[in-house]
Amino acid sequence: MGKRIYNFNAGPAALPLPVLEEIQSELLDYKGSGISILEVSHRSKWFDDVINEAVERTKRLLGLGDDFHVLFIQGGASLQFCMIPMNLGLKGRPVDYINTGTWSTKAIKEAEIQGKDVRVIASSEDKGFSYIPDGFTVDKDASYLHFTSNNTIKGTQWARFPEAEGVPLVCDMSSDIMSRPFDAAPFGLIYAGAQKNIGPSGSALVIIRGDMLERTPHNLPTMLKYATFADKNSMFNTPACVVIYTINLVLKWLEETIGGLEKMDEINQKKGSIIYDFIDQSGFYQGTAARESRSLMNVTFRLPSEDLEKKFVREALKEGLGGLKGHRSVGGCRASIYNASGVEAVKALVEFMKEFERKEG
Ligand SMILES: Cc1ncc(COP(=O)(O)O)c(C=O)c1O
Repeated sequence: MGKRIYNFNAGPAALPLPVLEEIQSELLDYKGSGISILEVSHRSKWFDDVINEAVERTKRLLGLGDDFHVLFIQGGASLQFCMIPMNLGLKGRPVDYINTGTWSTKAIKEAEIQGKDVRVIASSEDKGFSYIPDGFTVDKDASYLHFTSNNTIKGTQWARFPEAEGVPLVCDMSSDIMSRPFDAAPFGLIYAGAQKNIGPSGSALVIIRGDMLERTPHNLPTMLKYATFADKNSMFNTPACVVIYTINLVLKWLEETIGGLEKMDEINQKKGSIIYDFIDQSGFYQGTAARESRSLMNVTFRLPSEDLEKKFVREALKEGLGGLKGHRSVGGCRASIYNASGVEAVKALVEFMKEFERKEG
């Protein structure tokens, strides 16, 4: 086996090594079935156990009550951008959005395509989405209030979620789900593409409160109704079996090895301070997000020139640090330090950054 590198990609992203090893160890004969999990029927007892465990672990980790359903829906987070207004937009009532970057903008566009009365009640577009807005008021008339908890491209994150005044919160948690505990009670729906913090690509995790299921209009296509997935335990059609299997193993690692979301949060805070403290004292690297809005998952920064940025990414890879190029729409550098990137990965990155600054600064 070649040497594994530290993986700072934004998604698909690093998975915990013990999870990869577990997959490897049971790949050819899944729990005595004599076949691989890649080959097992989704109607088998083996897969039934996998999906039920993944649902139960999600509920335990997030402290969800029985009124929440946990679903796995293909089409990534992007399909949710249109399913949400289709299913949850109430007749004659507006749908409210907070715009904090590329992904919120896409969600807003899809709601508009659905012909909804879309109100953008707050935005950070005036400063290139470099901060999380506050001081806005929520109108009780709204069908829901949508926001993106972590902005993968711009490197900003909500430290505290918006007060919703009883309006159901709907949140795209693609890039920070399971990174910290939170109170799920004000949420009508939470969704996350799996490929950043909980698994490989190919499915979104959707958590929906029971009362939201009653909003779905009858005339939606079957595969676009949340109730279809809730009624059939996400198996109306063939689900992304291997993705769900991997998610279950990642959640097991979170529960049993890390010890839950409080512990995960402590580790993520520690990783954040190691890298941000270093950036703050350096005149060479410049963080791009406003200090109080900085993300603990995606650390975005610039170097003094684009040439140096290219060299930084190239040399880092030679030293075993991969995926540090910023998103193609914004340039610069980005270190995605999701749950599976441990403290040692962040320390190795900071050591490399120090050395690069010493040579090039
Ligand atoms: C916050 C956020 N939302 C949505 C998406 C889109 O996810 P998908 O590719 O699963 O549709 C991404 C992908 O990077 C993201 O970071």
